Amino acid sequence: MPLTPVLSSYWDDPESWTLETYERHGGYEGLRRAFDMPKDDVIALVKDAGLRGRGGAGFPTGMKWSFIPQVGDKKGGDKPHYLVVNADESEPGTCKDMPLLLATPQVLLEGIIIAAYAIRAHRAYIYVRGEVVPVLRRIQAAVADAYAAGYLGTDIMGSGFDLDVVVHAGAGAYICGEETALLDSLEGRRGQPRLRPPFPAVAGLYACPTVVNNVESIASVPAILRNGVDWFRSMGSEKSPGFTLYSLSGHVTTPGQYEAPLGITLRELLEYAGGVRAGHSLKFWTPGGSSTPIFTEEHLDVPLDYEGVAAAGSMLGTKALQIFDDTTCVVRAVRRWTEFYAHESCGKCTPCREGTYWLVQIYERLETGRGTEADLDTLLDIADSILGKSFCALGDGAVSPITSSLKYFRDEYLEHIGAPCPFDPHRATLMAG
Ligand code: NAI
Ligand code: SF4
Repeated sequence: MPLTPVLSSYWDDPESWTLETYERHGGYEGLRRAFDMPKDDVIALVKDAGLRGRGGAGFPTGMKWSFIPQVGDKKGGDKPHYLVVNADESEPGTCKDMPLLLATPQVLLEGIIIAAYAIRAHRAYIYVRGEVVPVLRRIQAAVADAYAAGYLGTDIMGSGFDLDVVVHAGAGAYICGEETALLDSLEGRRGQPRLRPPFPAVAGLYACPTVVNNVESIASVPAILRNGVDWFRSMGSEKSPGFTLYSLSGHVTTPGQYEAPLGITLRELLEYAGGVRAGHSLKFWTPGGSSTPIFTEEHLDVPLDYEGVAAAGSMLGTKALQIFDDTTCVVRAVRRWTEFYAHESCGKCTPCREGTYWLVQIYERLETGRGTEADLDTLLDIADSILGKSFCALGDGAVSPITSSLKYFRDEYLEHIGAPCPFDPHRATLMAG
């Protein structure tokens, strides 16, 4: 399957991030088309294209927009509408939104204006991870340029449509990528997930109808407006159409972002990326960041679209393909992820708050050769108490690498019982000491 660079087509241009470069590559043509269409037709077009949310869940974008109540609706039709862009990319291994914002921030702004026009919002927020200062500066500069050029503010391009965009820096909490925690944070409160329903489409920011979309989802919209539904659907599959950004990281010869139709396989992507690093073989990998069950070599030909990955027992998630070769200790890798989730657990619900703490204690024992076989059952027992019983997706995500690694690598866990880690030559010395 060939690569299909759309969003990444001119990332290598000098000063790819400027408004001038963006306009030279057809930037803001999609917006012109949108302004020539009735708002509901823009929603219908995105719906027909079948664009699915690129933040991880794959929810149909056009459908999400259509949930926004309109004037006269009893459920919030008379309240202001908001568009919120989730740029709080934090899933381990996920590195697509930040490169996109650095390379071509104007495409996000064009997508924002089209989406806001369609859902009748006059204020949009971009919630960016606070730690990524260069990205924050780039997007702030892009917003200023767009205002200066008349793409933001009042009567945009003589359309009569007004829109203001606010860039907000988060404070570095993974949970603030969960859409309702993000909204709490944006409102100035501690970011913790809210009960859903009501979904943000009905009661979101300041209890008003709000669309929360991922950066890549919104950035994909201008190309759809410019090239049409058939063009978008000529890539990918019936239920997962279009192109998307896959991020390859870890033990791969050329890590980076590869833009391809949904449904490409890891085997194909590895060919573009020069394969697993020289002299080593693939041991395991994540299809969608660490919150998704891991895969092994037997999954190299799984189509990387929502249905294909689900049928093989995992989730496409953020399409963060983290590659681990035969030098990796699976227990150590999963321990690091588990520590991450325990640290990032917001503490709101007991299964996740307490469970992730206990999981870390067990992994610490196992990795230092002090674990027992019963610990493996306890891991699964705790995972069972978290999965489906936590308040938000973080809990489920935290146990995915645990249950899946025990499924594929139980023998390697057993090798750690009462013995130094077989992958760490220094461990023996440490234990003896
Ligand atoms: P979800 O499936 O609950 O919701 C997806 C979207 O659809 C949300 O915007 C939600 O408001 C909307 N929605 C769903 N049902 C709806 C309804 N009946 N009415 C109106 N709107 C509705 O998934 P969730 O919990 O929002 O996200 C979980 C995903 O996030 C995971 O799959 C994971 O891959 C991903 N994730 C991404 C990270 C990143 O850094 N990009 C970090 C961690 C997780
Ligand atoms: Fe907070 Fe974890 Fe519960 Fe989510 S699952 S609400 S992160 S404690």
